[in-house]
Amino acid sequence: MTKISVAKGDGIGQEIMDAVLRIFDAAQVNLDYEFVEMGKEFFLQGYTSGMTPQAKESIESNCILFKGPMETPKGKGMKSINVTARKTWSTYANRRHFQSLKGVDTVYSKAGIPIDITIVRENIEDTYGGIEHMNSNDVAVCRRFITRKGSEQVHRFAFELARKEGFKKVACGHKANIMKLTDGLFLETFYQVAKDYPEIEASDIIVDDLCMKLVSMPERFQVVVLPNLQGDIVSDLCAGLVGGLGFAPSSNIGDNICIFEAVHGTAPDIAGKNIANPTSLLLSGLMMLRHLGHGDKAAAIENALLYTLEQGIHTGDFGDKSIPSSNTTEFADAIIKNLGKSPLESEPRKAGTAGKAWAKPQLPTSRIMMASPRTEKEVLIGSDLFIDSEKSADEVAAIIENRLPAKFKLQMISNRGTQVWPTGSVLTECVNHHRCRIVCHDETGETNTTEIWQMIQIISNELFVTSMEMLRNFGEKQGYSLAQGQ
Ligand code: NAI
Repeated sequence: MTKISVAKGDGIGQEIMDAVLRIFDAAQVNLDYEFVEMGKEFFLQGYTSGMTPQAKESIESNCILFKGPMETPKGKGMKSINVTARKTWSTYANRRHFQSLKGVDTVYSKAGIPIDITIVRENIEDTYGGIEHMNSNDVAVCRRFITRKGSEQVHRFAFELARKEGFKKVACGHKANIMKLTDGLFLETFYQVAKDYPEIEASDIIVDDLCMKLVSMPERFQVVVLPNLQGDIVSDLCAGLVGGLGFAPSSNIGDNICIFEAVHGTAPDIAGKNIANPTSLLLSGLMMLRHLGHGDKAAAIENALLYTLEQGIHTGDFGDKSIPSSNTTEFADAIIKNLGKSPLESEPRKAGTAGKAWAKPQLPTSRIMMASPRTEKEVLIGSDLFIDSEKSADEVAAIIENRLPAKFKLQMISNRGTQVWPTGSVLTECVNHHRCRIVCHDETGETNTTEIWQMIQIISNELFVTSMEMLRNFGEKQGYSLAQGQ
């Protein structure tokens, strides 16, 4: 029997997990549950990752975690346990499925517009690296990582999913028109991976346009893959299309460990009242059953759920207000009673993956380095120095130009990304954080790290260099962005 780790979570977690496991038992789901200690209480007991070493061991041994929502204590500098779990175990793809359900009225269901959208959100990189610094008293900076290998992983997952589930289209949402290097890399790898799936229509769409079209014509989308932060926002938008977070299941998929969880949080306002809606966690559990090859059980439970919803049975957060709401226990009981029934107003679910047994992955024994071969010539041509100073750009420029070794020249200064020196508008409002682009005199010329660090040391005698970035070219490709107006 497959053993999985189960963490009930905080707030409503216990209530909804108990309801879901009761439904699983009634449907004779054949899994062995190992309950693990994770969540708020364990942070407060001093486990800085929010889980006990036994919990970590269990999850790394079973490779499957079914979890309820969890709370990370606020204001104590602790990192979100949910994000830590996803990142530590490299669950690079967050899959969320949004579908119209009979009995869950929305403006779209009333207008007869069916919704069946899968959002695949990159789950590890982007601003979720959480690498932030105060670069001056006034300026906070967050480093945003998009990597070729991380992007390839999530795109391949999206296309594989489309192929397996019979979707015809995958779209990539992005903001590559603004973030040409980061989102540009995400988009470039999307089309590279798409070449391996010629039967699937690959397209891309700028994220703001995507949001507008998701709201105005959601039926046009099947699978949409996005970077982490944009994916986070867009998936909540999609939750709104189908009646809220209570109906959105989610799985976090990696090559080794997979985590299945509801999209919503711990709902502290209703915790302990036995009124929470367990549907999102139940649907996430069904994703898990399908992943583990128990497609027959997943279909049977989903059909019972759909039938129950069609009957108008609902918890207090949705449904026909003229029908009294059920509490969590009653809602689960109704689903259990309806096991064996199929929905009348929608297509019954089929077993799909039944019979394909899940095999526990062979775990790596050392950390994997994901890297592409370096085929392009890499040339260091200078450095961007970020200066913390209230001086004007002209004053900063004068100081730098006075002291720069002959090898280098100051090419431009930008403030908040807009060029303010040597030319710019007097109307560009500035803050005490100047980006000073210093390059070799001959722009095709090359420098080295020793010359750069010596140059920084000289500038540092006069100005506070709060951070720096190397300017490199990779073959024909410039490895840095231009300033607005440059
Ligand atoms: P939330 O999702 O917990 O609650 C938002 C609203 O939705 C509340 O009014 C709540 O009562 C309602 N709601 C949520 N789930 C429901 C359900 N199953 N049935 C009925 N109503 C439901 O979001 P909030 O308040 O922003 O976060 C509360 C806590 O949850 C925070 O500590 C947050 O960090 C944590 N959280 C954990 C997540 C996870 O474990 N994956 C995800 C999101 C938030």
